Formats: sequence, structure tokens, C-alpha cells
Amino acid sequence: MADTPIPLDVRNITKRFGDIEVLKGLSLKAHKGDVITLIGASGSGKSTFLRCMNLLEQPNEGDLIVHGEQIRFKETKHGREPADWKQVVRMRAKLSMVFQSFNLWAHMTLLENIIEAPVHVLGKTKKEAIAHARELLERVGLDEHADYYPAQMSGGQQQRGAIARALAMDPEVMLFDEPTSALDP
Ligand SMILES: Nc1ncnc2c1ncn2[C@@H]1O[C@H](COP(=O)(O)OP(=O)(O)OP(=O)(O)O)[C@@H](O)[C@H]1O
Ligand SMILES: [Mg+2]
Repeated sequence: MADTPIPLDVRNITKRFGDIEVLKGLSLKAHKGDVITLIGASGSGKSTFLRCMNLLEQPNEGDLIVHGEQIRFKETKHGREPADWKQVVRMRAKLSMVFQSFNLWAHMTLLENIIEAPVHVLGKTKKEAIAHARELLERVGLDEHADYYPAQMSGGQQQRGAIARALAMDPEVMLFDEPTSALDP
């Protein structure tokens, strides 16, 4: 559809750690329904690129346009930073990330992990969030594990739990870092 904004448009991202330039002007456009895979050697910058997309890392150069909204940056003495963190929070609600190491919150049960952001960021009621969480848990085969803590779950179960947590935000874009590293084919 011509007038629907592109969910994710990343332009000429450059990222340096000290003297090492890890990303050298990478661009990517994700249209609705696209599945895009990044393949590369360990250490080549895949995680860094994903982390730049939701500004967990600050790109040194380049632009991010999320659902038609361009992220604004400012130059500071620490380098380039987002000019408006409220805009970043709004943008992150549209981009859910499943981390390479899953990063479920260890002190919360799986169900609590899943409802945290829908309640505190999207403003859903707890009841609504729990109902949606239970549907997602069933979808990823973890309906029996709602009350488990991450440490009580296998790597693959944690990964599926992290996927359910990301889906619970009804995101426009899902960023998966090594999406099947711990899963059965
Ligand atoms: N915070 C950081 N500070 C300094 N260097 C970093 C930092 N994060 C990543 N790097 C470096 O950037 C490079 C890319 O790392 P990245 O994690 O993006 O690789 P990757 O492609 O995801 O690798 P893997 O397949 O092993 O997950 C590596 O050389 C890494 O050492
Ligand atoms: Mg990685």
C-alpha cells in the first residue's frame, strides 16, 4: 500500500568502537511482511547492527526512520545521541527485540516477564495483558511454564519465552538476534 509508512528504514549506519569501524554505512528497508536475514561471521557486527536499530547502541552516523518517523539526533561531547528520548521510547514500542542471550528478567516469572512492558509501556490493564500473555505462551508451547522463573527453564524454553515477551508488545517489527540458536529446527 503506497500510503502506509515503511515499518523500518535504516540508512547508512556507521558504528565505531574506538578505532575499529564495525559497521561501514549499512542500509536496510523492511516493508510489511518482509523477513530479512543477516548472515555473517562471528564478530562481524550482526548484533551491533540490530542494537543500532533500536538505539541500544548509538550509531556514529546514519538515519533511522521508524514507521515514517525520523529519529532526531544531537551532537554532544560524548558523541551523537538521540535528541528526544521520548521519541526513542515511542519507537522502541514498535520494534521488539529478542536478544542473543534472551535477557529474561531473572527475578520475575515468565508470565510477569511478558506482561511487564504491555502494562507499563502500552498501558494495558493487567487482566488484558495476562490474557494475551497466556495466548502467546500457548503459541510457543509454554502454557505450563507461566509461573517458572528463567533459571528453571531450558535455553530453548527461555528463548521461546523471550519471543512471547517480544510479541506481547504487538510490535510492527521484530528484531531477532540468533533467532533459533537454542531451538529445535
Ligand atoms: N560495546 C562494545 N565495545 C567494544 N567493541 C564492541 C562492543 N560491542 C561489540 N564490539 C565489537 O564489535 C564487533 C562486532 O560484534 P557483534 O556482537 O556485533 O558481532 P556478531 O556479528 O553479532 O557476532 P556473533 O555471531 O558472535 O554474535 C566485535 O569485534 C566486537 O568485539
Ligand atoms: Mg551476535
